[in-house]
Amino acid sequence: MQRPKTQDERDLVLYESRLLRPVRMKTPEFERNGRIRHVIFSGQFTAPFLDELGGIADMIRILSKSRAGQDFLINLLPHRRAMLYFTQPSTRTFLSFSAACQILGMTCNEVRDPSTSSETKGETRFDSIRMFSSYFDVIIMRSPIARLAESCAYLMNDLELSGSRTVPILNAGSGADEHPTQALLDIYTLQRSFQFDSPKDSPAANRFDDLRERKGYPGLTKGLAQKTYGFCGDIGRGRTVRSLAMLLALYENARLVFVSPDHPTLSMREDLRERLVDRNVRFYEFDSFDEMLDGKPVIEQLDALYMTRIQKEHNNPQDAASLAGIDFSRYCLTPEMVGRMKEYAPILHPFPRDQHFGEVPPEIDNDPRAMYFRQARNGMWIRAALLAHVFDVDRLISRHFMTEYLERHNYND
Ligand code: CP
Repeated sequence: MQRPKTQDERDLVLYESRLLRPVRMKTPEFERNGRIRHVIFSGQFTAPFLDELGGIADMIRILSKSRAGQDFLINLLPHRRAMLYFTQPSTRTFLSFSAACQILGMTCNEVRDPSTSSETKGETRFDSIRMFSSYFDVIIMRSPIARLAESCAYLMNDLELSGSRTVPILNAGSGADEHPTQALLDIYTLQRSFQFDSPKDSPAANRFDDLRERKGYPGLTKGLAQKTYGFCGDIGRGRTVRSLAMLLALYENARLVFVSPDHPTLSMREDLRERLVDRNVRFYEFDSFDEMLDGKPVIEQLDALYMTRIQKEHNNPQDAASLAGIDFSRYCLTPEMVGRMKEYAPILHPFPRDQHFGEVPPEIDNDPRAMYFRQARNGMWIRAALLAHVFDVDRLISRHFMTEYLERHNYND
């Protein structure tokens, strides 16, 4: 490794030994009193926590439908301020976190372009973070630098030990590393799809029994367990894939199928492979949807499909020749391929999709299985639920929901 030249580089080296530890050793350091304080990677979450958070998100979305519910929510955290420190482009994560803060009455401020901050005068990122923690109550950060959010969480923990003011760090995407809150909204979308309750969330809503008994899916169950999840596209560089795969690994008998070009940059990286093996997850790697799984082409076996964009902005010049030889059309959905998928299988995509590449063309948008726009909206509800958890008002929401809302909307009357 080269000797670090700048203080920014030296700051990261300072935490290297902590960064290299297994996830299970780090997780307790990101908690306080049994609650998550810093949200850094998806390996922090458990299946019961995901159920609980999805429940709070459902309550927030239902309460938000009425003026009285909105008034209750907006008065939960009016004394809290959020800093959105996004030094890498974002539409959905930035805006849905802003909207989530507003739902709970929080004030938001932002730094999106470091050229407008004093980092241009030589200030280090860690000094910036310390300054934000002086003015705000939570730092929500996106950075092109892998592990920066995790290092900032250690910085906060060290400051806490010395009695300084510290705040929670929420990782909103860190390099090619992790995007844990995207994984939360992906899981929330799958939870809603596989409840088979609402036609908006599931193309098969209200037809669950029919699907099992007459449509040839006798083994279909509600919930995320016992399902085959497909991921397609840029598996190697997709931080959303890495974060979501680790969460799906929490569900009994979940199988993961990765479809990507057989290229070292685009196929699964060894660290994710090791983590999945460590968790005893059944996973398969293919370079086409037409390869066979249990006697049928992969595309016909999936219970859900997670499409991703090829992140060509990260291509290395040395990969140019080998990438140019790949037939990328095999990693783009077509209406014909969607027609071969299971009737109830939701299609997700973290977005943005690439209009030039066309991995999910607009012709598919009206298919009831296309869940990606609802998925993006779900990001607002689940991030509001996460903020409610971090600031310990989630129990107020469920108490209010049970006493005020359900009593007034007693459907058994
Ligand atoms: N999915 C996602 O992270 O989108 P943005 O980059 O627009 O935030």
